[in-house]
Amino acid sequence: MSNVRPESMARINTPELAQAFIEEQIAEVRAQVGDKKVLLALSGGVDSSVVAALLIKAIGKQLVCVHVNHGLMRKGESEAVIEVFRNQLDANLVYIDATDRFLDLLKDVADPEKKRKIIGGEFIKVFDEEAAKLDGISFLAQGTIYPDILESIKAKESGKPVKSHHNVGGLPEEMQFELVEPVKFLFKDEVRVVGKALGLPASMVDRQPFPGPGLGVRCLGAITRDRLHALREADAILREEFEIAGLNQTVWQYFIAVPDVKSVGVKDEKRYEGWPAIIRAVNTTDAMSATIEEIPYALLHKITARITAEVEGINRVLYDLTPKPVGTIEWE
Ligand code: XMP
Repeated sequence: MSNVRPESMARINTPELAQAFIEEQIAEVRAQVGDKKVLLALSGGVDSSVVAALLIKAIGKQLVCVHVNHGLMRKGESEAVIEVFRNQLDANLVYIDATDRFLDLLKDVADPEKKRKIIGGEFIKVFDEEAAKLDGISFLAQGTIYPDILESIKAKESGKPVKSHHNVGGLPEEMQFELVEPVKFLFKDEVRVVGKALGLPASMVDRQPFPGPGLGVRCLGAITRDRLHALREADAILREEFEIAGLNQTVWQYFIAVPDVKSVGVKDEKRYEGWPAIIRAVNTTDAMSATIEEIPYALLHKITARITAEVEGINRVLYDLTPKPVGTIEWE
């Protein structure tokens, strides 16, 4: 099948156009798949979620979704996948909590690229194992979108990337399945319009970009469970406060990173050693360069007060003012 978006394809920017696209894809998927079973790695990201919702409409329980929780998800994300897909959409969903597997493998590994390799490799292993347990799967669905196709063409043609950008959920190359890729000609904004038309919650459809290795590249250096827990809690507070302030609508990506460094502080009149939580909030159009969002000081104070009061182990909050270049968006 061609990997070039047909010139005649209209830009999907209205609910009506999204509806027409959905109807067309339902017919195409049914024709391609027949009564066979389709497997999908459902990460909870926008693309795989939209593909899942679309395929549930087209083929119902013939779709088997596998959600692998690598223990590096943000607070509440795996729970949201279960709630939306299993409870609301009645999907055939296999949920695998592989937290211990991933964290055991990552123990004492400080190098960011090694961490990415371990997370990406283990993800494929876990997914493969689950696929082998399932009978009669003939197809593999993927949330490939058009920029992925364009980027992979560009990457093949050009030089070295700064980071390996392992995309958890990527296809295990040796898998012998035919592909189902219903959104492969769509750009991200179109995927979101289609997701809304499919009735997915805004929190899922408007989700900010989240790297495949998840909090693994934000718990800097060798990951420990206590620091990962502190990071997850601090990040949840940041997200909550950005939503209250409406900044989730305007800021492209925002998160907390927690380095493997402790400083001395004081709490309840006692010495209190803790990690700093680093706030990063950036704007960009293509993630190749990024500028810093100007967060109101009052909000920074509120977030600082909440994180230091509510999160065990954090005793300082810092705001990263570095644009890209010279800093990359993530710290690792
Ligand atoms: P950097 O840190 O390179 O990030 O400025 C640019 C964008 O890519 C995301 N990112 C990743 N995405 N796997 C991913 O799927 C990765 O390993 C990875 N590393 C960075 C980052 O969150 C930002 O949106």
